[in-house]
Amino acid sequence: MTVPVIIDTDPGVDDAVALLLAAASPELELLAITTVFGNVGLEAVTDNALRLRALAALGHVPVAAGADRPLVHPQAERADRWHGSDGLGGCAAELPEPDGPVNARGAVALMADLLAVAPSPVTLVAIGPLTNVALLLAAHPEVKPHIARIVVMGGSLSGGNTTAAAEFNVACDPEAARRVLVEEDVATTLVPLDLTLRCAVDGAWLDELATAGPRGAALGRVIEHYRTQFREFSGGDAVPLHDSLAVLEAAVPGTLRTTALPLEVVYDHGPARGVLFAARRSGAGGRLVDVALDADVDEVSATVLRRLRRLC
Ligand code: RIB
Ligand code: CA
Repeated sequence: MTVPVIIDTDPGVDDAVALLLAAASPELELLAITTVFGNVGLEAVTDNALRLRALAALGHVPVAAGADRPLVHPQAERADRWHGSDGLGGCAAELPEPDGPVNARGAVALMADLLAVAPSPVTLVAIGPLTNVALLLAAHPEVKPHIARIVVMGGSLSGGNTTAAAEFNVACDPEAARRVLVEEDVATTLVPLDLTLRCAVDGAWLDELATAGPRGAALGRVIEHYRTQFREFSGGDAVPLHDSLAVLEAAVPGTLRTTALPLEVVYDHGPARGVLFAARRSGAGGRLVDVALDADVDEVSATVLRRLRRLC
């Protein structure tokens, strides 16, 4: 079954792997790549998306830039420590030059236009802050019936990676995350750190990718800085490719095992800003989100590598 998707992304090292995984997944019909501020600023993530499009030979797929800031309150923290100042481990300039301009309609208008004419419902894969998705749903509620589901990489029920308890994508724009994960009613699958950290790939996996061919070698160079940072941070040779899990779930629904939970996102300005939690109050009337808390971890990692090798 072909799954039409739009990927909203902030490349970003793990986003880079996820975009190539999308290109290597025959189930996916990639309708567009839209960019959002996040790991690095909007200009850099958009240039990176254009370069990754060229690397993956996806030249027919439109790339459009979206929000360069959160919905409401400024959030200056980027993730360049982990992703490098250019967002791709310092290797962006080594990748192919952008093979065309960004789509002039911009991310939200492009998503709305594509959804409106989609012959079948489209899966939105959101692997950066949720600002563009929140804007889309607010400005174009008429397209909601054309969305099959939203697969979001973000949040954590067991500790954060950008503050002690908040995950980066949600913490970048808590108001947008609350819109999408709590207030809206579009079917949503959430892929949180709880699972993505369990699916971290090891040095042997990374070395096999890097020696699989020219595209694998390019990804290996992009990942190297991220790998070094995690080695220094954790002492181990393993890296979480968070965003790839969202893409794989979109391509093969049911890859991840989910639990339906009502969620809440903290959007005040206290120390818990950006924290996501399961609102398991008895009688809670909140909408339910399918939260991916389990998977065959070894199978997921092996599948991602097997697919990427096809492209290398
Ligand atoms: O917390 C992990 C998420 O934040 C991933 O999407 C990574 O690319 C960063 O954006
Ligand atoms: Ca990302």
